Amino acid sequence: MSGLSAVLASAAVIEREHKLSLLLELGALLAQELDLDALLGDIGHRVACAMGAERATVFVVDSATGDLRARIAERPDLPELHLARGMGVAGWVAESGEAVNLIDAASDPRHFAGVDRATGFTTRTLLSVPVRDGRRAIRGVLQVLNKHGGPFSPEDETFLQALANQVALALDRTTLRAAEGSERGVQVRGLFNHIVGSSPAVRAVYEQVTRAAAVDATVLLRGETGAGKGLFARAIHANSRRRAGPFVTVDCTTLPDALVESELFGHEKGSFTGADRRVPGKVDAADGGTLFLDEVGELTLAVQARLLRFLQEHAFERVGGRATIKVDVRVLTATHRDLEALVAQGRFRQDLFYRLRVVEITVPPLRARGGDEVLGLAEHFLEGFTRRYGRPGLRLSSASRLALRAHDWPGNVRELEHTIERAVVLCPDELIGTEHLGLPVRRVAAPEPTSAAPVEGVVLPLGLSLSEVEARYIEATLRACGNNRSQAARALGVGRNTLRRKALKA
Ligand SMILES: Nc1ncnc2c1ncn2[C@@H]1O[C@H](COP(=O)(O)OP(=O)(O)OP(=O)(O)O)[C@@H](O)[C@H]1O
Ligand SMILES: [Mg+2]
Repeated sequence: MSGLSAVLASAAVIEREHKLSLLLELGALLAQELDLDALLGDIGHRVACAMGAERATVFVVDSATGDLRARIAERPDLPELHLARGMGVAGWVAESGEAVNLIDAASDPRHFAGVDRATGFTTRTLLSVPVRDGRRAIRGVLQVLNKHGGPFSPEDETFLQALANQVALALDRTTLRAAEGSERGVQVRGLFNHIVGSSPAVRAVYEQVTRAAAVDATVLLRGETGAGKGLFARAIHANSRRRAGPFVTVDCTTLPDALVESELFGHEKGSFTGADRRVPGKVDAADGGTLFLDEVGELTLAVQARLLRFLQEHAFERVGGRATIKVDVRVLTATHRDLEALVAQGRFRQDLFYRLRVVEITVPPLRARGGDEVLGLAEHFLEGFTRRYGRPGLRLSSASRLALRAHDWPGNVRELEHTIERAVVLCPDELIGTEHLGLPVRRVAAPEPTSAAPVEGVVLPLGLSLSEVEARYIEATLRACGNNRSQAARALGVGRNTLRRKALKA
């Protein structure tokens, strides 16, 4: 083999390995609790590198509108890219399902120059392939622009298609996955991978979580039981520089007082009866990562004192030991208790309280997030449980959807999750009725004045005539049923004709 061909052959091997490792990386990326924007951007970035292109974009098709949405990895400062259905080459690919390879983008009528203008970019060559899932349904488009040193080759096309298949698998494991049985597109449900919700109240939490992830400060997560404190704690860790390190949880409620200290800090052999060997604590286990103290309000004053010292000095001694051990641990804590009241009663140290709440994040209760979010979460859990229990095609009846919206969810997201799981198990046919939800009747959500998001539903001021009340209620129900008159009529317990007559009057 001549020198040149040997070099070329080894370059080809390196390139192939590079491409294979990219395929593996995409899978690993998804396991993390990354912000979806960051995730899609990161995928785009890696695809561009592997393809030797200047830019790569992952578009997803929004199943509600057919529009394409994307964010450009290289320009995070720009707003989301939005292409109306069928617009641009990506829109054409999403509609036709065929790949497009252009050597001169400007001369192709499908090319939409508006995006270039908006992003200050000049597209020369372009390769665009559909993102199809296992059932061949189109979920998005993967597009690369401006290959260095010439046009995209047929091999590039084959490889980009392989990457697009990985992206489809990947989407399926995020909150961007397709709704059960949907023919095209994905449901855009939230900003975080694995976390559902886009109400203003939850968006505010996303922002705080993102900021908290960027620093190493102690965080106190507050909020009612089942609101998602544990989930957001994990999201902080997974988005922090410690993401490759351990995430260790200690549930302070389930430990007997006597064991909390040794559980946290470990103990030396012989330090108490039964301590027949040296045992490292959770603090050791979390070295290089994050320690999450759940229900921190339950700690005794003695343990609080040791925890405070640990937070101040990042050092501790094992129970029964003398050596001071240093570790690199970030501490997150959570509680549903009123810590101010515990401080006032002398049951929680004030200095520790201040130390814990360097960053304080309050996860809002479900009832403050609005009915759309309740339904979004319900659909998310429904998909999960129908897969787990092998019950495809199971749907919520319109009356069930109204009941889910109306309930005030004292047990928050966890209560909703259990409600849906029970319904999936109990429901004998395809339609989940209110009887399978087991929610108490006539418990209507009370608007919460302090919440950031208005509660979904209808507020009826006193002093209206009965017919006016009826009209407004019908209008709200129709809105809740997406203007589907048959559904609304069923939910209201009247015939479609009656509804039409009453709605006309309204
Ligand atoms: N926004 C969300 N999207 C998807 N799943 C969620 C969301 N919020 C909570 N969950 C799920 O709901 C359940 C309860 O959440 P989590 O355990 O984080 O709540 P918590 O506030 O820690 O509750 P507790 O105070 O009882 O410990 C979990 O199964 C979690 O995965
Ligand atoms: Mg919890």
